[in-house]
Amino acid sequence: MDWISLTADWCQHRSAVHVFRSPAPEGLDEDRLLGRLPDYERQRAARLKFAGPRRQYLVARYVLRQLLGAWCHADPWSLSFTIGPHGKPRLERPGAPEFNLSHSGDWVAIALSADRPVGIDVETIDQKVSRDRLAERYFSLAEQSELASLPDSERWAAFYRGWTCKEAWIKATGRGMGFAVERLTVRLDPALPARLCAVEDDAEAAAQWRLMATAAAPGAPVAVCASGLVEEWRCWDAACLLPADALRDSAATA
Ligand SMILES: CC(C)(COP(=O)(O)OP(=O)(O)OC[C@H]1O[C@@H](n2cnc3c(N)ncnc32)[C@H](O)[C@@H]1OP(=O)(O)O)[C@@H](O)C(=O)NCCC(=O)NCCS
Repeated sequence: MDWISLTADWCQHRSAVHVFRSPAPEGLDEDRLLGRLPDYERQRAARLKFAGPRRQYLVARYVLRQLLGAWCHADPWSLSFTIGPHGKPRLERPGAPEFNLSHSGDWVAIALSADRPVGIDVETIDQKVSRDRLAERYFSLAEQSELASLPDSERWAAFYRGWTCKEAWIKATGRGMGFAVERLTVRLDPALPARLCAVEDDAEAAAQWRLMATAAAPGAPVAVCASGLVEEWRCWDAACLLPADALRDSAATA
């Protein structure tokens, strides 16, 4: 799926599921973002001692607020959020859209829909992780056998396809760590469209949820999950929502 540069009228497409990517590169001038955010977000950023997670958090909040503000015709900087029982944030506002966000490495990804619960996951492919041990622990038996059946050259992509799709579904449902993810089976073959195949003890799930897989950049797979029949997925490059001078010395402009 191609990423289109964000246009001012993106939010007129109310029935699409919108997906956004934004860079969160090293060297980003954090002060340019901090100044606009409310106190509690600045405080949370200050508590993040490692530069990577702090940068991701700031970019995510900075971009998310502008997207939600545009969608709701509201001041982005005064929006407030509530947190679900397992940590999923929601916009506190009548008729609020559904959204979810994810960050990894130099990327932030956000999904937004008028009324369908959505979940999104972006990961950075790291071939140092214990792929087969993680698959044994978190993948269903069907997924493990699909992974084993694929040529070696495709297994990393397949593993991350599975991981991101499973996370996206979990995040769409708002579940957290408590859910046994090996109960969930998604299609792993990276050459085929993403699909939820089955959820143990939930016969309706496969028909109820749609998955879409893409990549924020090479090595940064993204999966998005939404409930119901998705008329259209629209993928937007939202880098333009960051202040241009915040990126001046960053890897994004190098
Ligand atoms: C909570 C969880 C969904 C976060 O995922 P993550 O990969 O660590 O982090 P991501 O960057 O993708 O997402 C973090 C964002 O998701 C949102 N979020 C937090 N809890 C959430 C939940 N229960 N549901 C949906 N979204 C959630 C928040 O916006 C958070 O960002 P913020 O704190 O900056 O606002 C994840 O840690 C988790 O519980 N996973 C359980 C499933 C599991 O075992 N997976 C193993 C592989 S399949």
